[in-house]
Amino acid sequence: MQKKLIRKLDLEMLLSQIEPHPSPKPSLEQYTIPADVAATILYIAAYTHNDIVNKTILDLGCGTGRLALGAAFLGAEKVVGVDIDKIAIKVAYENSVKTELKNRVQWIAADIDVVHGKFDTVLQNPPFGVQRRKADRKFLEKALEVGKVIYSLHKSSHKDKTFIKKLKTCGTAIVPVSPSSFFKKFVEEHGGTIEAVYAMLTTIPHMFNFHTKRKYEFVVDLYIIEGE
Ligand SMILES: C[S@@+](CC[C@H](N)C(=O)[O-])C[C@H]1O[C@@H](n2cnc3c(N)ncnc32)[C@H](O)[C@@H]1O
Repeated sequence: MQKKLIRKLDLEMLLSQIEPHPSPKPSLEQYTIPADVAATILYIAAYTHNDIVNKTILDLGCGTGRLALGAAFLGAEKVVGVDIDKIAIKVAYENSVKTELKNRVQWIAADIDVVHGKFDTVLQNPPFGVQRRKADRKFLEKALEVGKVIYSLHKSSHKDKTFIKKLKTCGTAIVPVSPSSFFKKFVEEHGGTIEAVYAMLTTIPHMFNFHTKRKYEFVVDLYIIEGE
């Protein structure tokens, strides 16, 4: 059954009510995705590629639930959110109560290793591997194992000022880019195919002692990948 189209502004308003992690740990890279970035990803997945409405969704490393709850709000059939951190899952549950989506998402406090089966769509904003090298690879491997389609956010190599200016002025907030050769090889070796890559700007606030700025602005790449 096709559900009604939800305005992006309404989605962003819902996502902005979702509380971030109250005590994030640097080792787990517990950065909450900004509401506008989450809304852009969910909107592309739902309305450009038809990968959310009436689909089964898995949010790997769900944190406090922005991507999972956004998918439920847009009309996913079933949503599962998994995070290794119990506090993140507790806050995700509270966020689901606050947004009246409690019955639409199942939360699991566990390592992503425990996930098996098949989901129509995997959404993930994994640790980028800044604190623990290669942390994002485990997420990509699991996503490729259990997902038919994967939306995965990664730190971009596009960081020059001209490119950032282009992103700020392009109106759509996203720019198609080529995949990195490392990612292409990794995905293909695991049986997947990269369908598209979009660069977008994101920000994180000052959260940890080692942060020297009030906020950081940087480019991330959204990989859209077909699984096996
Ligand atoms: C960058 S945060 C993203 C949180 C949330 N998805 C968001 O976008 O706001 C990465 C998340 O992955 C979780 N995480 C890291 N390693 C994990 C693992 N092995 N299994 C499950 N979750 C993990 C962290 O606790 C953290 O919440």
